[in-house]
Amino acid sequence: MAAAPFNDVKAYKPWEVDGKYFGDGREVALIEYMYSHPLLPQLRGNPTNILAAIDTFAQTVTGLINIGETKGEIITPLIRQNKPATMLELGGYIGYSAIMFGDALKQAGGKKYYSVEKNPLFAAVAASLVDLAGLKDTVQIIVGTGAEGIQRLFDDGSFQGKKDSRLGMVFFDHHKPSYTADLKLSEQLGLVGAQTVLVADNMILAGNPPYAEWVRASIAEKKRMVAGASTADILGNPNLQYRSRSVISFEPSGMEDALEITECVGVAA
Ligand SMILES: C[S@@+](CC[C@H](N)C(=O)[O-])C[C@H]1O[C@@H](n2cnc3c(N)ncnc32)[C@H](O)[C@@H]1O
Repeated sequence: MAAAPFNDVKAYKPWEVDGKYFGDGREVALIEYMYSHPLLPQLRGNPTNILAAIDTFAQTVTGLINIGETKGEIITPLIRQNKPATMLELGGYIGYSAIMFGDALKQAGGKKYYSVEKNPLFAAVAASLVDLAGLKDTVQIIVGTGAEGIQRLFDDGSFQGKKDSRLGMVFFDHHKPSYTADLKLSEQLGLVGAQTVLVADNMILAGNPPYAEWVRASIAEKKRMVAGASTADILGNPNLQYRSRSVISFEPSGMEDALEITECVGVAA
């Protein structure tokens, strides 16, 4: 699919500073910037203004590894269309996508947006910004790896809806090699079913061939892949029928990237 053009005026500063891409104090600088912002009263309870202030920080102070506005404008309409009651995000960073997509989910009548983040400092920054945005009843930040977060939320019944534990949407934006294992864990636990929409970031930067292979494979192909796997592997559920497409877009720095958008269109008996 053709990419909407990138607006250079909104480009973030490069992520790389002295060989570091994150975790060099920029996330603490961000939270200080937000709470000393001259327009702080206008940020409170206003997700749009908060996202704009985070963007300004990343455009003028230091780049941040957020999803950004351009890719966000592809994902937010999917939330409006699909109206997920519950959405799971793996890789929350400082809460930019959790605020953007949690607000969209709330506006669409949804109940809960779970954001799993491995780094406790980033998770604390995210929780504070979610609170500032007035979204703490909708967005819950969970500290842990994707697999730990999924299992914990499953075990404590957080995903349990009226009939089952199925998630409306899942957003993969964490450790790239974990996308496939965490998707398969979600499949095995029954979190993915008919109409679940999966969105995976960074399919070009850095790319994720094992994930693309799994979500683009037919049921018969997946059964063959599983037949050759070790019993110790997380096997997923090959009976889920996916329809998947690549959508070209841009990082907030202006570099080309792609999202993989996958819809579960049915489950074979
Ligand atoms: C690209 S950032 C996420 C950006 C965020 N989704 C946004 O758009 O605002 C990736 C995040 O994944 C986290 N992460 C890395 N490995 C992880 C794992 N195994 N489980 C959960 N989070 C992880 C990193 O600490 C980092 O904050």
